[in-house]
Amino acid sequence: MKAVAEAKDSKSVSREELVGLLNEDLSREYQAIISYVVYSQVLKGAEYMNIAGELEKHAAEELSHALIISNQIDYLGGMPAVAPKNVRTSEKAKEMLKFDLENETETIRNYRERVKQCEELGEYAMAEHIREILKDEQDHLIALATALGEDAPAIKGSGTK
Ligand SMILES: [Fe+2]
Ligand SMILES: [Fe+2]
Repeated sequence: MKAVAEAKDSKSVSREELVGLLNEDLSREYQAIISYVVYSQVLKGAEYMNIAGELEKHAAEELSHALIISNQIDYLGGMPAVAPKNVRTSEKAKEMLKFDLENETETIRNYRERVKQCEELGEYAMAEHIREILKDEQDHLIALATALGEDAPAIKGSGTK
């Protein structure tokens, strides 16, 4: 109870709420799997050849994230979600990469928050799993930003240390 008052700014959650949030994360992972599977195959143009191969690797990594997250949900006594978040499509390579960049940014913001929430609930192993996933997501973000010729976006919200 005392810890809850202290951690006011990174809103504390109950275990039930954590299950709900992890299910949102899982739906985002499904979304990422689908978009990387599709985009990696339809990206055309010599300048996008490297990133297309890269996206194929991302697809496999997103699948492993989905497995880790659903395992955590099951551990918490919840039922893993089955529906992905909406996947946007475009004919334009640049737009596809932009969608991915936006989604990765959103994913990272959420996982940073999730790490804190897991720790507040004393779920340290779960927090570690999510930190591992976060490393991949940061790599994805950088790969996309590089392909777009941009700097990786600064992500507001819960900072990680
Ligand atoms: Fe992921
Ligand atoms: Fe990712």
